Amino acid sequence: MGNFKAKLTLDKEFKVSEVDKRIFGSFIEHLGRAVYEGIYEPEHPTADDQGFRQDVIELVKELQVPLIRYPGGNFVSGYNWEDGVGPFEQRPRRLDLAWLTTETNQLGTNEFVDWAKKVNAEVNMAVNLGTRGIDAARNLVEYCNHPSGSYWSDLRISHGYKEPHNIKTWCLGNEMDGPWQIGQKTAVEYGRLATEAAKVMKWVDPSIELVACGSSFRKMPTFAEWEATVLDHTYDHVEYISLHQYYGNHDDDLGNYLAQSLEMDDFIRSVIATCDYIKAKKQSKKIMNLSFDEWNVWFHSNDADKKVQPWSVAPHLLEDIYTFEDALLVGSMLITLLNHSDRVKIACLAQLVNVIAPIMTEKGGKAWKQTIFYPYLHASLYGRGTVLSPAILSPKYDSKDFTDVPYVDAAVVMDENQERLTLFVVNKNQDDSILLETVITGFEGYRVMEHLVLENQDIKATNKENNDQVKPHNQGNAAIEDGALYATLPKLSWNVIRLGI
Ligand code: AHR
Repeated sequence: MGNFKAKLTLDKEFKVSEVDKRIFGSFIEHLGRAVYEGIYEPEHPTADDQGFRQDVIELVKELQVPLIRYPGGNFVSGYNWEDGVGPFEQRPRRLDLAWLTTETNQLGTNEFVDWAKKVNAEVNMAVNLGTRGIDAARNLVEYCNHPSGSYWSDLRISHGYKEPHNIKTWCLGNEMDGPWQIGQKTAVEYGRLATEAAKVMKWVDPSIELVACGSSFRKMPTFAEWEATVLDHTYDHVEYISLHQYYGNHDDDLGNYLAQSLEMDDFIRSVIATCDYIKAKKQSKKIMNLSFDEWNVWFHSNDADKKVQPWSVAPHLLEDIYTFEDALLVGSMLITLLNHSDRVKIACLAQLVNVIAPIMTEKGGKAWKQTIFYPYLHASLYGRGTVLSPAILSPKYDSKDFTDVPYVDAAVVMDENQERLTLFVVNKNQDDSILLETVITGFEGYRVMEHLVLENQDIKATNKENNDQVKPHNQGNAAIEDGALYATLPKLSWNVIRLGI
């Protein structure tokens, strides 16, 4: 046993930024069982009058997800949105070439907007810039957001939706740099198309905000040239550039796996630098923000997915069963996002139900919480307010791909209105607990309300068989002594220390 200590120094005046609550967003794609058997299952005992599973609605509401990206993902690059509106019996069954499945179109734009309302989320709508282009994109904006008196808005009304959906945030395609994408484009091709789509979409509704596609992941060979070229074209027309990143413990090397939040941090910094380079080049006053609209752990299901028969409806795809160690990395990724809240304004845990998701469902049966549900829940519930910048002194380790990895990751959020201060802290040490000392300035009278801990003796534990195998307890020992906060961070643990008046 070592004798590990870490120190945080916090001051109320050292602010990073207000948190945009949309960084606790998520994602539902027409993929596998995310929609069908996930959020929508008319035969399920809990189904409401629209066929939505109310057990799933309750879990999504518990997470307080503020924004949900839809309908893809790779799916959107071959999607005809018109297939998913109007009379159900007239909706076509289509081959989805993104996932080699059959799409029945029994759930489409209007039903998804209805569902999003039921879970108190706003929709982040993606348009197809793979097989389609500016015409389909502007028509969809008109269908969703124009009040009435035009072909597409009146069609919406004829479908039973008198009021416009007023969808505010729109994605201009998905991962257009990837060879797997239907309708892959070069950066110049995409930059031109995204600009022209953005222009007409905003002419239809000037109040919308747009996300341009960044690279599909950090190690794409065209990163960050892709971002620079795309932004060179789109800078004046969009508000955000997207980032996507998934990690996996492919080599079963826990230290190296948990260190990957450092790569996420570097990825965000590199995209910010690229945005600011284009800002400088254009002598622009506009600050480009980031939408990290796909992030998670994704690797457990890779082999199983290869065995799925093509053209089935709602097959079991991307059904990663998450372990305890995955929850730790998800926690560190959340901490990374919070610490970049000055530029990351949107982020979507990909995805929400059944497909690389915190919530799983059984057909006709129960819905249950994966291990990663908990850090996401805690961050969404307690991570709203203003992020502070703590000075962190932590012992460090080296791993296969990283050097100087701090054992302790931390983000701190204050909510002045509620008089709350929350510390999110991960201990990545595999053998030892760490004694954390936090020196706090500006929060006189605050006391420890709760110290939640997610820990487990079995790093490979999941919630699949026993749905309560991995869940947090509130027996952490955080306490204030002589004006400083002391807490033991158990080895390999996610900690949420909540202070208040
Ligand atoms: O989230 C699963 C897939 O990952 C999405 O469809 C795609 O955008 C990404 O490659």
